[in-house]
Amino acid sequence: MNNDIERVLYSQDDIKAACQRLGADITRDYAGKKPLFIGVLKGVIFFMTDLLRELDFLADIDFIDVSSYHGGTASTGEITLVHDIDTDISGRDVIIVEDILDTGRTLAYLRDRLSERKPKSLKVCTLLDKPEGRVVEAKADYVGFNVPNEFLVGYGLDYVEYYRNLPYVGVLKPEVYAN
Ligand code: PRP
Ligand code: MN
Ligand code: MG
Repeated sequence: MNNDIERVLYSQDDIKAACQRLGADITRDYAGKKPLFIGVLKGVIFFMTDLLRELDFLADIDFIDVSSYHGGTASTGEITLVHDIDTDISGRDVIIVEDILDTGRTLAYLRDRLSERKPKSLKVCTLLDKPEGRVVEAKADYVGFNVPNEFLVGYGLDYVEYYRNLPYVGVLKPEVYAN
């Protein structure tokens, strides 16, 4: 385990099981449809690849890059669109894929932006949901784990852009970001 990690919250096996469960749920719910999966960069990269390989149908994939944390441990509230999708989503069944839902600001922003383009349906799948972090209303349709109100890193989640490639989700030691 990395030295800066206080404890592992979800192991590789826990995450794999969650991906299998969510993949089965989505496969069942989207039978006969051809949904587009929009991954929210950068945090989603590992979850996107693991989740989509659990689907029992061919998936159409795109990415959108938005950023809100600007390096700290708390959301600044200011969302920046770094890179847009290049798929036309009008009339499409769309599933936004996120690593974590915290204040809800990123998702609220994405819902507004993407709804304007008239998708047929718009749903959200997140690996982690931190309900205590919510500042604006936001809800996911598919959730891997409800997580406690602690600063998490790994499996895509960063602290100042590092720790993303830890294969598990862990709690960062407070002294790492206190100084
Ligand atoms: C993180 C995370 C989610 C978002 C959730 O992304 O990956 O996308 O914040 O937080 P919220 O519910 O408070 O909006 P971040 O903005 O740090 O960009 P990143 O994915 O590139 O790390
Ligand atoms: Mn993100
Ligand atoms: Mg981040």
